[in-house]
Parts: sequence; C-alpha cells; structure tokens
Amino acid sequence: MEFINRPYAPAGGFAASNLINIDDFPEAETNYVLDLAEYYARFLKAGKLPPARLAGKTQINLFFEDSTRTNLSFELAGRRLGADVLSVPVAASSVNKGESLIDTTQTLVAMGAHALIVRHREPRVHDELAKRIACPVINAGDGVREHPTQALLDAATIRSVYGTLKGLVIAICGDVKHSRVAASGAVLFSRLGAEVRFVGPAHLMPAPYQMPQARRFDTLADGIAGADIVMALRMQFERMEEGGKDAATGYFETYGLTHDTLKLAKPDARVMHPGPMNRGVEIDGALADDERRSLILKQVFYGVATRMAVLDALITKGAAF
Ligand code: CP
Repeated sequence: MEFINRPYAPAGGFAASNLINIDDFPEAETNYVLDLAEYYARFLKAGKLPPARLAGKTQINLFFEDSTRTNLSFELAGRRLGADVLSVPVAASSVNKGESLIDTTQTLVAMGAHALIVRHREPRVHDELAKRIACPVINAGDGVREHPTQALLDAATIRSVYGTLKGLVIAICGDVKHSRVAASGAVLFSRLGAEVRFVGPAHLMPAPYQMPQARRFDTLADGIAGADIVMALRMQFERMEEGGKDAATGYFETYGLTHDTLKLAKPDARVMHPGPMNRGVEIDGALADDERRSLILKQVFYGVATRMAVLDALITKGAAF
C-alpha cells in the first residue's frame, strides 16, 4: 500500500466554517477535502492510524433521524483522528422534556464541543444552529434537501476508481424527488466536470426548476446509455404521501438495476448506491454483491475517510500539525 503526502490546505487556510450545503465548500476547499480523504483512505487501507490531528477535541453527533452509515462513520472518523466522540441518545435525552434544539446544542457546546454533526428532517435547522453556536455544524442529512458528506464521499469513491470526475457520465436512477443524496450529488458532480442525468418515472422526478444541472430521462435505456456510473436510489417511502404504498409497484421491472439492464450502459460501467438499499426493489442483490461492477462497499469505506477529512478540515482549518 502506497502512502501519499498530506495535501496542502488552500492558501490562507481552510475558508469554510460549516458544511451545511455542498456549496459551502468552494472549489479549493472541495479539492483539498477530496485529496485529504484519499490521504486518510491510504492509512485505513493499510490498517494504520494516521496522526491524531483531533486529540483533545470533542465531536458530538446529534441524530434526530435513523442512520447506520452516516452516524457510525462519523463516529469512527472522529475516533481514528483521536477525538473524543459523543453520540447524543436523542430518544433518552432532555429533548423529550421539551428542551428546544437551540438550548440542547448550546448545552453541548458549553460542554466543549468542537464540532456538531446534526441529522434533522427540518430544512434550515442547521443554518439556525450555525448562527447561534460557536463551532462548526456539519449537516448529516436534512429531509429531502442536502446530504453534503454523502456527495463528497461519493466523489471520493469515484476519484479512487477513475482518477477524476471530469468527462464521466453519471446516471442517478429512481426516487430523485425525495433524495437529498441526489440533490447534493448533482451539484457536486457537475461542479467536478461530470455529466449528471436523472432517470426515473415522472412522479419520482423533482420539479423542473429544481436541480437544473441534470438532464432527465424517463426510460432506463435512454438514461443510462453511455453512462460510466449508474447510481441507484432507495425508494424513500417515509417521505411519500400515504407511506408511498404503491410507489414500488412495477418499478423493478421497468427501472431495476440488474446485470442485464446494466448492459445498456458502458461495457465497464459501475453501480453505486448510497444505502440503505432494498434488494429487489431498485437493485438486484447479485449486481449489488458483484465486486467487479459494484462500488457500494467502497462508498461505505470512503465514508469514513471522507468524514475524517471533513472533520479535520473544519476543526483544524488545515493548520500545520
Ligand atoms: N447513506 C446514508 O445516509 O445512510 P444512513 O441513513 O444509514 O446514514
């Protein structure tokens, strides 16, 4: 395993204070974080601990929605860098005694938090928190609006395979309308030079004025023709009216990703999925498990490395160690 040199922070230091929207990281900051993610990935691949950049720092995770990947990978990321990591047990906290979110977070900051990782379904909660507290706020997913660290880890994963996103065709398939992953990903992938497409039935597409970066297709054959990467999305039933009880009817037959339907894309196209995935609904299990075609577990791996990079950049501002 080859190690690489630690990348240099942008001239003048890391400019961003929070990561709430993917555009909070301008070009230099984005490239630095992606380079730093690769730097940390080399340590993780080699089973080695990197320098403890966050020793003496405290990171607090505050998740008001369910999560496996994001919550645990943030926890691991902080620990790998030497931080003290606390996860607030929301269901057993004073939030249930009527304490406001602002009061809860100010309490956490008074305990000495150096970064707050927040998943909350209300858009703009993160902006409100960032105005009121004196440490970086990192958005771990907010309803259907943004999931910026997922976009960054997806970009880091793609770079690890292709070297760049420039010139790639990335087709994002399925329930785009309710997907914060698609929303942040479309913006970032376009900025990094990829052609982004959305593929799915009209009722799962966002309004035309939303996410104008992406061309839209209503057939899988047209949408993934020539694609380098085909990203499947979960049906987000919990965000649909009446629990989306009919949303999956006939979906797999028309849009499901299988070894067969992937033949419509480039010959060596790869599949991605942010997880959690529903096998047999948006993707066939055999394709998801095929290491030659599937980047799904690589995305999980890069989730830790990328979140290490985001925490390091926002807490230390790229300062020399
Ligand atoms: N991709 C993602 O956000 O997964 P979790 O909901 O498990 O965190």
